[in-house]
Amino acid sequence: MDFEPFSYMRHAKRLEYADGIYMAGSGMYPPKPGELNFSADDYDLDALCNSYGDPRNVDWLATRYKCSGQNVVLTAGSSEANFFAFSAVLQPGDKVIIEMPGYGQFNSLTTLAGCRPVQLKRRFENGFAPDLGEFKRLLDDKTRLAVFTDLHNPSMAKLPRDLLKDMIAAAAKNGTTVLVDEVYLDHLKIGAEDDTCFGYGDNVIVTSSLTKVYGLSALRFGWALAPARIASRMCDLADVVDPEISPVCQNMAAKALGNLSRLRAITRGLHERNWPIVAEWLKTRTDIEAFTPPGGLVCWMRVKGLEETGNLATVLRNEYGVLVVAGEYFQSPGFLRVGYKSNPAEVREGLARIGRAIDDVKSHKKG
Ligand SMILES: Cc1ncc(COP(=O)(O)O)c(C=O)c1O
Repeated sequence: MDFEPFSYMRHAKRLEYADGIYMAGSGMYPPKPGELNFSADDYDLDALCNSYGDPRNVDWLATRYKCSGQNVVLTAGSSEANFFAFSAVLQPGDKVIIEMPGYGQFNSLTTLAGCRPVQLKRRFENGFAPDLGEFKRLLDDKTRLAVFTDLHNPSMAKLPRDLLKDMIAAAAKNGTTVLVDEVYLDHLKIGAEDDTCFGYGDNVIVTSSLTKVYGLSALRFGWALAPARIASRMCDLADVVDPEISPVCQNMAAKALGNLSRLRAITRGLHERNWPIVAEWLKTRTDIEAFTPPGGLVCWMRVKGLEETGNLATVLRNEYGVLVVAGEYFQSPGFLRVGYKSNPAEVREGLARIGRAIDDVKSHKKG
């Protein structure tokens, strides 16, 4: 099978273990086990666990998303949910609309399915909202799938609800499925139009997980919500790749689901505490344009005067001990994605070093 490798993931896996102030991640720290009351029973390898995942978790998600259990497919993270969604919907030769800048997994999945990616721009000057006219022009008889992230990775921009509804309706008319990866959506303040788009149409698939907002990547607990016919096809795929879903992870996830609002508030608190530190620093840098995110733990910024930031990220890592993600990994040379989840002193120190590294790289460019 031929496909374009997912270069960001390769890079991110290496960065996790590098030394330095870690400002490369987009997810929350893991909660301490005590915070979720894990108990010896949770580790029972004989635990009864339905092979499509723990029915308690399916029920919990069906209630949360106001749908039937038949619409819920439990997966190993949203990554696997996205893989199932692509595989269930696409045929070789189809076209897939993917956002730009965007999360590289979608390009890899498109090429893996033997399909062609077409890019829909999410522009800085539009607050990273896609343009409805452009979206409609990309819909043709080959366009089988359109994929969005909400919140948008890398900018964390929220997809305006009316625009999303219009795009879903236009896609439905064209026979196109819309996949919305909502793994960052719970970064929003509760009640701030933080509702899922599942239910906006019968051509909608939503994916998410306990990874980003809840810090529980290690549980590999994700889900897809899909119309029953597509969900059933995803279960066919689960039969091929997941003989069983780990009961240990399902037990722990059940505890986490029971505590989601508490965990969500902790993550939101971190954004509210640290974003002002980033905003303050940005005021001191007239050569940086940054998007103000409605939530999350990363800032997407353009460094004026640098056409590419790969070198800057390398200098930051090797000489300044700070790990960030270069815009190149999101098809955006000249940008940086900078995380701000650490303690305030470390965030301030990391930002100060980023400033010095930018000055350093620019002065070498001139010289
Ligand atoms: C948009 C998006 N979806 C999915 C993932 C992976 O999440 P999971 O751990 O749930 O597979 C990421 C990770 O960076 C992401 O940015």
